[in-house]
Amino acid sequence: MNDKSRSIDEDKQLAADAAVAEVQEGMLIGLGTGSTAAYAIRAIGRAGIAIEAVATSEASANLAREVGIKIIHFSRVERVDLTIDGADEIDEGLRAIKGAGGAMLREKIVAAASDRMVVIADRSKRVETIGVAKLPVEIVPFATAYVSAALRPMFDAVDLRDGGRVLTDSGNVVLDCMNSHSDDWDRLAGWLSTVPGVVGHGLFLSEVDAAYIASGGIVTRLERRLTSG
Ligand code: 5RP
Repeated sequence: MNDKSRSIDEDKQLAADAAVAEVQEGMLIGLGTGSTAAYAIRAIGRAGIAIEAVATSEASANLAREVGIKIIHFSRVERVDLTIDGADEIDEGLRAIKGAGGAMLREKIVAAASDRMVVIADRSKRVETIGVAKLPVEIVPFATAYVSAALRPMFDAVDLRDGGRVLTDSGNVVLDCMNSHSDDWDRLAGWLSTVPGVVGHGLFLSEVDAAYIASGGIVTRLERRLTSG
């Protein structure tokens, strides 16, 4: 029975546990970033499975080391077996918005290198169609004013996160973009990639292979090959 009294944190743990059940000895695992990914990192540590991992942020690398997971620097890695990561929004077509934690550039690189990328989330992240969450865009600091001006006509608002004082792990700043004027996400993602100074964005339109979404103690698995026909 779906138990609505279960907390969001319990659901994050359940989604994480479901994804960690896919982890097998000898795999190279991609570790995502954020509070839900942290549940998965701790679960892998507790399970004591002999794996190696790459991390999508310094915070996740530090947590992984704390729980006994061997971290390899991604600069020496060509491919990853399985990546487990969170999301800010995920829809039925497994399109996601990521990057509230500011790690979307490394998250997308690691996802691209992964044979399988699995999102874990509680019910608050599941949406009919993406686009309500702010869309984070990572840019080189040198291009802050130029890219902000280029993006402004496309959104209701474009805000420089923390006034540009906090840098991502790659030394960049983040523009949080609210309410896209278009829901043609493929086109928007393509266009963003052409703007000089943009190095990454939080639209994950084809990277996610599967999602474990927990709601009231029940975990639902969505698979791309089943959802996209
Ligand atoms: C970080 C991310 C996170 O995965 C996303 O923000 C979800 O975080 P949380 O699990 O804490 O809600 O994309 O860049």
